[in-house]
Amino acid sequence: MQIIKTNKSRLKEVNFSNLPFGTVFSDHMFICKYKDGKWVEPKIIPYGPIEMNPGAKVLHYGQSIFEGMKAFKNSNNELLLFRKDDNFIRLNKSAVRLSIPQIPKDIFINGLEKLISLDNEWCKKDDGYSLYIRPFVYASEDGVKASTAQEFTFIIITSPSTRYYSGDINLLVEEKYTRAPQGGVGFAKAAGNYAASFYPTRQANKKGFQQVVWTDSIEHKYIEECGTMNIWFRIGDELVTPQLSDSILDGITRKSVIALAKDMGIDVQERKVSVKELFEAYNNNKFTEVFGSGTAVGISPIRSITFRSEKMSFTNNNDSISSRLKSKLQSIQKGEAFDSHDWITKIH
Ligand SMILES: Cc1ncc(COP(=O)(O)O)c(C=O)c1O
Repeated sequence: MQIIKTNKSRLKEVNFSNLPFGTVFSDHMFICKYKDGKWVEPKIIPYGPIEMNPGAKVLHYGQSIFEGMKAFKNSNNELLLFRKDDNFIRLNKSAVRLSIPQIPKDIFINGLEKLISLDNEWCKKDDGYSLYIRPFVYASEDGVKASTAQEFTFIIITSPSTRYYSGDINLLVEEKYTRAPQGGVGFAKAAGNYAASFYPTRQANKKGFQQVVWTDSIEHKYIEECGTMNIWFRIGDELVTPQLSDSILDGITRKSVIALAKDMGIDVQERKVSVKELFEAYNNNKFTEVFGSGTAVGISPIRSITFRSEKMSFTNNNDSISSRLKSKLQSIQKGEAFDSHDWITKIH
């Protein structure tokens, strides 16, 4: 693989004590093109603008997918990449649905590992820091015919980050708009899913909520996700999360929460959860905790859920399931706890 290094690192210009999520990018990026039926010319080059024709299909039809993953530093300043194979597999699942050619594993893994190794100083070892990694693929063919492209570009960029949400998360149950309909692309990390979520989220923001709770597209009765997180409820002694479907993203953090909760002896249930069930359980003092999970946010306790004019409020303490899961997950990610599930790859 060709590696062209920057002749002027920007690292010294970065204010690591003020890093709004996803706004600062490391020195280099990985890029690879798909042409004539093959992925060709993988290379690492300095981070910077990409050339694109105005007719590029992605700009017209949104044929684009992405991933979000993280690497952390341990106390010896070694870089630890979290669950890379899972993100690779999910990227290719999204690719199938969006009619994008499969990315070969060696191209993804070699490109990713070389890139983060080269920019490893962009990840700080102090508590709360990580390197957010954004692989993405888009239709770069020049042509506005509404059909699948024959040329694509695969890029990986990385961004030093600290914790994503700083304040409380208050959720509004969305009853009109849908993040993802049945038979759609909600299980894929398709760019268009996010574009469609911005307007309803903005409306909720105006009413003072940080995120919405997405419900099913048919009846708006069953909970699917919240914002860009999978969602979890402690109901009685069970930890409940909506069962996967084609409108729910199979989160890597979700998989991790299930595994860690089971390790802790918690009864995890993946099933349908209705808004009505939540209110009944809340009124019977059985629904005591709610949290979200995602790569960017990790595990985030939720302060309240509002449905029409009714509100359920929650307090979080160190004994909560989310606090216990969060500290376990973080200690594995930072190499402080034994990685019994083999989730970590040490990058040299
Ligand atoms: C819609 C949606 N749901 C859930 C998640 C959580 O997935 P993961 O844990 O793989 O980051 C994400 C991404 O962060 C997302 O965009």
